[in-house]
Amino acid sequence: MWKPSDLRRGREPRGLEHPVERDPNAPIIKLRGIEKSYKSGFGRTYVLRRVNVDIKPGEFVTIMGPSGAGKSTLLSIMGMLDGSWEGEYYFLDYPVHDLNSKERNRLNREFIGFVFQSYHLIDSMTVYENLDVPLSYRNIKRSQRKSMVADTLDRFNIVGKKDLYPSQLSGGQQQLVGVARAVIGNPKVLLADEPTGNLHTAQGLEIMELFKRLNEEEGTTIIQVTHSEANAEFGDRIINLVDGWVVDEDPYRPDAAPPEGADA
Ligand SMILES: Nc1ncnc2c1ncn2[C@@H]1O[C@H](COP(=O)(O)OP(=O)(O)OP(=O)(O)O)[C@@H](O)[C@H]1O
Ligand SMILES: [Mg+2]
Repeated sequence: MWKPSDLRRGREPRGLEHPVERDPNAPIIKLRGIEKSYKSGFGRTYVLRRVNVDIKPGEFVTIMGPSGAGKSTLLSIMGMLDGSWEGEYYFLDYPVHDLNSKERNRLNREFIGFVFQSYHLIDSMTVYENLDVPLSYRNIKRSQRKSMVADTLDRFNIVGKKDLYPSQLSGGQQQLVGVARAVIGNPKVLLADEPTGNLHTAQGLEIMELFKRLNEEEGTTIIQVTHSEANAEFGDRIINLVDGWVVDEDPYRPDAAPPEGADA
């Protein structure tokens, strides 16, 4: 059985690939009572309130809600980009709440791909080099890395762009590279925060169709944040966030009351 100290010592724990014999339908992400708050004046401002969420392997889930509801915050916590929160988070049965930042980084690099609204490519690197970055963090031979990058360039139809820098690409092409970089290591979970927010309709549609294929053909679990009903249509279900609370209804109504027992 895997334990956090295996990660800490930096050796490849036998359990990292397959932490435990898992029920294939058990949630890949399990959040229990997740809270996030910031100090403000004399008190605290809550951004996430007692969030309970289960994401099953192979699901394509959409998080929606008004601006400021906590969607990006929730996604960053799921992606282990944000380490300061309360509650329990199990990722593939790993108790993320008990892990230190180094261990969380390792889980992130092994299992999670993240797509940002503003692409977040490295400007000083070519497309090829950008795709190689996530592989360079892993224990993968140089020759294998080369073939993985070549395969991905091919799969995403961007071979001709490999020596260009991000500034030499259109927004849609940059996001294509952003998605390619997120999935090159074959992550179990792809998290995307308004991935089409900066794109034209046709470019956005291309990204959504790509997500759908990744989900259906590769079985990648996808969680996207979007304001677009059309994008949400690509997913299986919607989680609605309002003022940091997960609200049950679907679709979301702006005048929704907090869930019963909530003391705002
Ligand atoms: N450093 C901080 N200090 C205080 N409050 C913060 C801080 N960072 C974020 N917040 C607050 O957290 C809340 C949720 O922010 P978040 O970015 O998760 O919203 P969102 O749902 O993604 O909104 P949008 O749709 O506009 O992207 C906001 O009210 C924001 O002001
Ligand atoms: Mg946001």
